[in-house]
This record gives sequence, structure tokens and C-alpha cells, in this order.
Amino acid sequence: MRTIIEPFRIKSIEPIRMTTRAERERLIEQAGYNVFLLHARDVLIDLLTDSGTGAMSAEQWAGAMRGDESYAGSESYYRFERAVRDIFGFRHVIPTHQGRAAERILFSVMCQPDQIVPNNTHFDTTRANIEYVKAKAVDLPCAEAVDLGAVHPFKGNIDLEALEGTIRQTGAAQVPLAMITVTNNAGGGQPVSMANIRAASEICGRYGVPLYIDACRFAENAYFIQQREEGYEDVALIDIAREMFSYADGCTMSAKKDGMANIGGFLATNDDRLAAQERNLLILTEGFPTYGGLAGRDLEAIAIGLYEALEPDYQQYRIASTAYLGRHIAEQGVPIIEPPGGHAVYIDAGRFCPQIPSLQFPGIALAVALYEEAGIRSVEIGSVMFGSRDPVSGEERAARNELVRLAIPRRVYTQSHVDYVVEAILNVHEQRVKMQGYRIIEQPPFLRHFSARFARI
Ligand SMILES: Cc1ncc(COP(=O)(O)O)c(C=O)c1O
Repeated sequence: MRTIIEPFRIKSIEPIRMTTRAERERLIEQAGYNVFLLHARDVLIDLLTDSGTGAMSAEQWAGAMRGDESYAGSESYYRFERAVRDIFGFRHVIPTHQGRAAERILFSVMCQPDQIVPNNTHFDTTRANIEYVKAKAVDLPCAEAVDLGAVHPFKGNIDLEALEGTIRQTGAAQVPLAMITVTNNAGGGQPVSMANIRAASEICGRYGVPLYIDACRFAENAYFIQQREEGYEDVALIDIAREMFSYADGCTMSAKKDGMANIGGFLATNDDRLAAQERNLLILTEGFPTYGGLAGRDLEAIAIGLYEALEPDYQQYRIASTAYLGRHIAEQGVPIIEPPGGHAVYIDAGRFCPQIPSLQFPGIALAVALYEEAGIRSVEIGSVMFGSRDPVSGEERAARNELVRLAIPRRVYTQSHVDYVVEAILNVHEQRVKMQGYRIIEQPPFLRHFSARFARI
């Protein structure tokens, strides 16, 4: 059978509010042309993020009812710890309210000012948390990642030569840790091969640099390894995941992705000394070490969700559905990052509307056009998110790429929703010559994409 079907049926539904084009034009203008500032009830198909937006399973809801809300030593924590240890293999499991809390604690404990943290590509919160402790976040994507249209099975890989070169040049003492993000979200949701993780681990090991995995989409990455890397076709996803983490010294995790939960995360490590320091910080801002900013019911949902993300039927449907969206727009000439990623399709807005220069934010123009056309919320990943403004001269610097990400929430939308999105993108593509640029009229000092306001040029 070629038809993609969801490997679940729907027990509880959430209505979508229909809006007219005229309403949407008014609403996005009121939101300063920033889709983050829209009310969710005004969005028809919300592809802003796959983070925390998934639907929980009946088993997870059952687990939520079982949640033990004891302040200390909750049974739900021990179930959560057992699940994380079983899959990720790390001794210390520190729950946090989401991924960035794990990052903040990790970098506060491990990094000193001016030190360097390499990664295949840092996600925005990872970069911001490293820079907040005055260390430097360095992106080392593999050479294949540079050509957005090139097809390669593991475009998320870290550049191994550059990793070793950076450690040598900086001096290992100034590299407190290296990271690999699976899948590489900012780099197009592209997977990282087992061979790449293994080789990065060998390099780091040689120089005594701990290797951490940003594990948000570990199960999708495991599925790509199973499908694309020789020798893994018959290996179970859970065993692939276990091998991935066996090469690392620790990980940060946002359980809002492959934890299949609406909130949560963790920090894990094998280092007793670091774990003690991390727990001290945890108590300061997140909570006691057996809940860390989460309710017992959340810990239960994550403990179950981590295994559900590794179910082969689920992964097959998820990756096929994302690929279907990518293929159907690419076949009609929409430029996307090839091949489509696991959790998202990334449109190359720079090529979609080449008449708009980078510093007039083509990604914002496309995100606004998709909302006005069909109520679809996407997100710019370009010069607003990753560009910068010189604090003295006010001069804007462009990002490397101008992308728009369509992130697919887990188990939320059906195949007909995907068809609707395809149609909307193709409609906007036909009208693309009419699209105009934007300028920023208001922005905060950090993570400006969340709250900046724009005006049409
Ligand atoms: C690769 C990556 N790392 C870290 C994070 C941060 O996680 P959270 O949003 O739970 O703080 C995200 C979230 O989108 C992510 O995609």
C-alpha cells in the first residue's frame, strides 16, 4: 500500500476555528507580522514547532493518572529514571522542566568565559545559554550540509576534521565539552550517522573533551540510521539509540520532542562530581532532584513516551508523512532542504522569493504569506533568528540561510491536513513575485525572533 495511514485512531478531538483571509490579514498585522505573537485560536494548522505540541497516547494519559505527586522520592521519578537509564544508559538522571533548563544547568557548571563549545549546529536556546555564561558556541556542520539542495543521507553530521582542528587550535583545556545535536534541527532536521557519532567520540576521547548529545529527536535519528546506514537495517530502534548514547558522556533532552510529552526534559551524565553540582543548581531554580520542575504526572508521561517514540510503526508513519509534504512541494519547484528532515520540512525562502534581500527577511515574508493564504503557522529560521545586530553601530548581519520551517507536531494532524498544507504552499509559490520584504521596528536583546515586531517595506 502506498497510502500513508496514521498508526492510531482518534479518541478525543480538538476543533479548529476557520478564519477568512481578511481576518487573517488583520490579525497578522496586529501581531507585528510575527507569527509567535498570534493567538493559537486564530491558527488553522499550527506548524510553528513540534515542541510540546504532540498528542499523548491513551497509555500516557493513564500514566498521568498514576502520577505520584510526592515532593521527594516520588514513584513516578523512579519510573522516569528507569526509562531514561534503560534507553540512554547514563547513571545520573536530572529532570528539568524543559530542554533549555538542562542546557542552562549544564553550561553553568561546565563552561568558563571565552571557552569554546563546538556542535554540528547549535540550536538557538543552546547557543543563547552558552553565550549567557560568556563562552562561545561554534557550529561545525559537515561540508554536505552547505548545499541545501544536495541529497545526502546524513547531512546532520558534524565536520570531524573541523572538530579536531578546533580542539587543537583552541587547546583541549579551553573546550569544556563538545556536542552533537540529533537530529540537527537548525541544520534542517537532518540526521547524524552512527559512524559520525562514533568518530566524534573517538576524537573527543583522545583530547579528554567530554561529548554530550542534544538528544531531542533521538528516536527519529535512530530511525534514519536504521533506514540509511549499512549494518543497522535489522537492529531495533532502541538498540540503535543505546549505541548512539554509549559514545557520549551525557546528554540534554527536551522531552517535548521525542519524549512525546507536552512539557519536560532532563540532563544526564555519568560524572558523579558534575551531577552533584548540577543537582545543587537544580534545587535553586527547578526543584528537588526527584521532580526538577515537573509534576509526577509529567514524569510518567515521559517515561512512557520515550518508548512510544521508538515504536517502528510510529516512526515509519512520521518520517513518511514529513517526506510526503516535502516531496509534493519540491516536485512543483518549491526549493527545500533536501532530503526532507524528520520532524520538519524547511523551505529555502531565499530562493523562494529571491527579490527580497536577506536583511529584508524573506523568511518572515513567506511565513506571513502562508498565514494569510491558509492560516498556516510556520517559523522563520534565518536572519531574524540567527542574524544579529551590532549593539554599537546598529548594523544588521545576515544568517547563512533564509529558511522557513514547517514543523510537524507528533500524532496531531492527519494526511488530509498535510494535503491542505501542500495546496497552500503551492498557491503562495504561484504568487511569489508579489511578495515584499520587512524591517524590524522593535526587538529585545536575546532570542529576538520570539517577540520582535516588523513592518512591511
Ligand atoms: C535541538 C534542540 N535543542 C534544544 C531545544 C530546547 O528545548 P526546549 O524548548 O524544551 O527548551 C530544542 C527545542 O526546540 C531543540 O530543537
